[in-house]
Amino acid sequence: MAAQTIEGKAISAAVREEVRLEAQELSSAGVVPGLATVLVGDDPASSTYVRSKQRACEKAGIYSRDIRLEETTGEAELLATVENLNADPSIDGILVQLPLPAHINSRRIIEAIDPEKDVDGFHPVNLGKLLAGEDAFYPCTPYGITVLLERSGVEVEGTHVVIVGRSNIVGKPLAALLMQKRSGANATVTVCHSRTADLATHTRRADILIVAAGRRAFVTGDMVGEGAVVIDVGINRVDDPQAKRGYRLVGDVDYEGAAERASLITPVPGGVGPMTIAMLLKNTNRAARKRANG
Ligand SMILES: NC(=O)c1ccc[n+]([C@@H]2O[C@H](COP(=O)([O-])OP(=O)(O)OC[C@H]3O[C@@H](n4cnc5c(N)ncnc54)[C@H](OP(=O)(O)O)[C@@H]3O)[C@@H](O)[C@H]2O)c1
Repeated sequence: MAAQTIEGKAISAAVREEVRLEAQELSSAGVVPGLATVLVGDDPASSTYVRSKQRACEKAGIYSRDIRLEETTGEAELLATVENLNADPSIDGILVQLPLPAHINSRRIIEAIDPEKDVDGFHPVNLGKLLAGEDAFYPCTPYGITVLLERSGVEVEGTHVVIVGRSNIVGKPLAALLMQKRSGANATVTVCHSRTADLATHTRRADILIVAAGRRAFVTGDMVGEGAVVIDVGINRVDDPQAKRGYRLVGDVDYEGAAERASLITPVPGGVGPMTIAMLLKNTNRAARKRANG
């Protein structure tokens, strides 16, 4: 079987266009959606992520505030910045770019964000609501994966989803989203990790295999069941002197090998990646709509 590609770029573009129209509607009603990004230090990868979030806001008609703090910023100062943003009525969403410098307790910072402005969906209140199947801000990457599946026409209900990876930002919230008792979910979910015995036995049984292990080309073709849908969350840099930036991005799945057996597969780049920012914008609009509705 030669797999068809799930076009994350096109699906993300469609979501962003919907977001732009919604932001326009909210702005006409006097509520301009606003996102604040907070970057501590000058880590190049984090700076690139923050810049692309800012650019995406601009294109979507979302007001964005770019807060940059020195690497040496103390926890108290960062907490004060978050408190100011919590109290600022022009800011609907707050995103503190992770990872933070080692001298700052990330958990304490995330917990200081008003859950109603937690558009990254990492606050324990939102994670708890997600687990309980209540209305919440969902973490952007898992949320984006559910939208990718839905818009690619993949029926999740009744399937066996196998997730490789149990991180707090991808694997765990994704498992919680897909197992919920509601349409678009209702899957039977297996979560694998580094202590899973005989990983391939599990991955081969998946109708939908989602890989977020942070190891390049780690899932090979023989680990994929015939006709499975494969979602590759991984983003790994590989040195490549021919590439414009001196490196290229590859996923956690051996694309060529997996594509021979899968029915649908996401590419890297251009699969899950573009969805993450689109969902951040969607969450920001959602927070703004709550403000508009009082
Ligand atoms: N597309 C996007 O927007 C986006 C967003 C976030 C992350 N990512 C990418 O997704 C990947 C995962 O990110 P993450 O933050 O979830 O990573 P992470 O925090 O490093 O978690 C990796 C998970 O994979 C598991 N794992 C590692 N080696 C394994 C093995 N040999 N067998 C089975 N499981 C194994 C780990 O198990 P243990 O728990 O036992 O250690 C862990 O649960 C990375 O490549 C990252 O760059 C992409």
